[in-house]
Amino acid sequence: MRQGKKVSIIGAGNVGSTVAYSLCMLGTAHEVILRDSKTEIACGKALDMSQAAAVVRSHTKVHVAEDASQIEDSDIVVVTAGSPRRPGMSRDDLLVINAEVMRGIAQDIKTHAPNAIVIVVTNPLDPMTYVMWRETGFDKSRVIGMAGLLDSARMASFIYEKLGYGSGQIRATVLGGHGDDMVPVRRYSTVAGVPLTDLMADSEIDKIVERTKNAGAEIVGYLQNGSAYYAPAKATAKMCEAILRDSRQIYPCAVLLEGEYGYEDVVTGVPIVLGANGMEKIIEVTLNEKEKALFDRSVGSVKGLIQTLYDRNFYS
Ligand code: LAC
Repeated sequence: MRQGKKVSIIGAGNVGSTVAYSLCMLGTAHEVILRDSKTEIACGKALDMSQAAAVVRSHTKVHVAEDASQIEDSDIVVVTAGSPRRPGMSRDDLLVINAEVMRGIAQDIKTHAPNAIVIVVTNPLDPMTYVMWRETGFDKSRVIGMAGLLDSARMASFIYEKLGYGSGQIRATVLGGHGDDMVPVRRYSTVAGVPLTDLMADSEIDKIVERTKNAGAEIVGYLQNGSAYYAPAKATAKMCEAILRDSRQIYPCAVLLEGEYGYEDVVTGVPIVLGANGMEKIIEVTLNEKEKALFDRSVGSVKGLIQTLYDRNFYS
């Protein structure tokens, strides 16, 4: 019988290994499993991280799964595997390649970790979460995409940079898909409960909104050979924590909509209650006409990507 909590991470590149490292530092998971096609590199990282855990006297152990069966009994499976986004490549270009990757991983999860909660991080995030949900056949409460937490944190960091105060008190809200038309919602962004609109001119907020939408691409532009990983990984680890500790926090995450916000059969970022059972509730916030139009456009983009999966015969 396994003791404690187990988190398996499929894809031990920059994002996956940084999620593992964050979990080691938090110490909530008893065991973290790394699975990657580059087994030797994963083994090196696993040893290094287990030793880092010992530095902070965390009890988390990190192991490498050479075989998919080693993810058995995972409480959470984090999926970061996939082709990365390169400069000049949109998130959407990755669609069909990564959908195939999701299909294979979904089979492994169904076979070896049928009770796990799955957190999808692979881009393009919303359609990949949709594919994972369909391919596992899991209840939608157990297939959750990470991105709203990342995009909201990015917006919060830009607000702090501009204001110069209130860092820990900033609550930024980004809804919709994790694409170029994500929806940073200024009306639901506050500093110590004070509406952002009372603290900054509209023109300043406009700049923050645009920078938030381009934040991933801004980092790709600097790194040249890869995309962001510290913030994406930390946001993923934070979601794992909410599940492992059953903290029932409200986080914006990508989940399947079945009538909420007036949509069916599409995944998009909305505030959810996240706890031991995964997504326990979808919160339907009131959007004004302008916000609804932006949200509709973003959901429309995700629908378009899902349609592309049919057009390219991934689904028939
Ligand atoms: C980002 C990419 C990875 O937002 O989607 O950083």
